[in-house]
Amino acid sequence: MKILWVLILLLGTIVCMAGEKGGRNRSFKPGELWPDNQGIHINAHGGGMLKVGKIWYWFGEHKVEGRNGNSAQVGVHCYSSRDLYNWKDEGIALKVVTDNPEHDITRGCILERPKVIYNRKTDKYVMWFHLEPKGKGYSGALSGIAVSDRVTGPYTYLKAVRPNAGFWPINVPEQRQDKNANSGEQVFNGGSLPENVGDLSLLKRDFTGGQMARDMTLFVDDDGKAYHIYASEENSTLQISELTEDYLDYSGKYARFFAGRFMEAPAMFKKDGKYYLIMSGCTGWAPNAARSAVADSIWGPWKELGNPCRGKDAEKTFYSQSTYVLQVGKDRFIYMGDRWTPENAIDGRYIWLPLEFEDGKPVLKWVDEWDLSWFNHRK
Ligand code: DGJ
Repeated sequence: MKILWVLILLLGTIVCMAGEKGGRNRSFKPGELWPDNQGIHINAHGGGMLKVGKIWYWFGEHKVEGRNGNSAQVGVHCYSSRDLYNWKDEGIALKVVTDNPEHDITRGCILERPKVIYNRKTDKYVMWFHLEPKGKGYSGALSGIAVSDRVTGPYTYLKAVRPNAGFWPINVPEQRQDKNANSGEQVFNGGSLPENVGDLSLLKRDFTGGQMARDMTLFVDDDGKAYHIYASEENSTLQISELTEDYLDYSGKYARFFAGRFMEAPAMFKKDGKYYLIMSGCTGWAPNAARSAVADSIWGPWKELGNPCRGKDAEKTFYSQSTYVLQVGKDRFIYMGDRWTPENAIDGRYIWLPLEFEDGKPVLKWVDEWDLSWFNHRK
């Protein structure tokens, strides 16, 4: 009987391997091509992770060849893995719309940094992403929301919204809550620090219509509350918004941080009760020095901890930009970043590195190749 089981298992393994053109990956090789189970470079940029049972799911932007790939031609790609090295293509979880040029997520829109979280109360998987309507550049600054009963999708697109229309952030004192004062129109170029950035003029400009939201992530806290963290106010200021219990909208409670610091690419994680953010500066697709910050409460105050990168190319975050920090065990975190290639978007690479801590600060060092046993051997 035992022999029969062994034979069945062996046969199963052989059949599985025959279907896998990519062979087995046994380590992370930051910056190299990363073959999926079909031997094709993983196509899930600006991505995020969700663990369901023992399986990890990776959601990210599906890019196509050339500059065209910088806008959404296909949708959000999903992969699954049991070991984080080998990823099975689960297909397109959210497809762009190809038969209606007026649709919010019509092909050619900008759909970036998708993240999926699971809502226990509704038993639904909820996807949020940065959405820019087709042909409008980055002026829309909307948040798209989609939902599914199954983790791999298909996800149903629900709506695109601007955060917290008609609400003041909890950290703007009542005496400053006058939307008509100092609310002159401004255009920011995304990099320089305007003199009057502290005067709330962008917050006030968008008070009625809703705040801008571009680069984003989601974070679910231990108590099940979920948050949307996004570059707002023409990218000048990061905002953190609480979501409703079903994760499908904003609760109206939000706060603004790092005013005038132009933080992009936020990735949040929690360690020993403290909240951490890894972020970048704001230089388009070009890499810049990462930033990090810590807080005792998600509502701040947030304290900047500087660039977590050390060594060669630290000032360029090893030619990457943060997208997610994945916790894989107690005190075990993986930094996940994108090495963008906007001239041929599909060729973008993934920079996954172990995230260490030194004196309470996150630290990133380049490693050519590593695996999860790295966490067992560190000092
Ligand atoms: C940097 C952002 O982090 C990316 O997600 C993307 O929006 C590019 N800017 C576009 O230039």
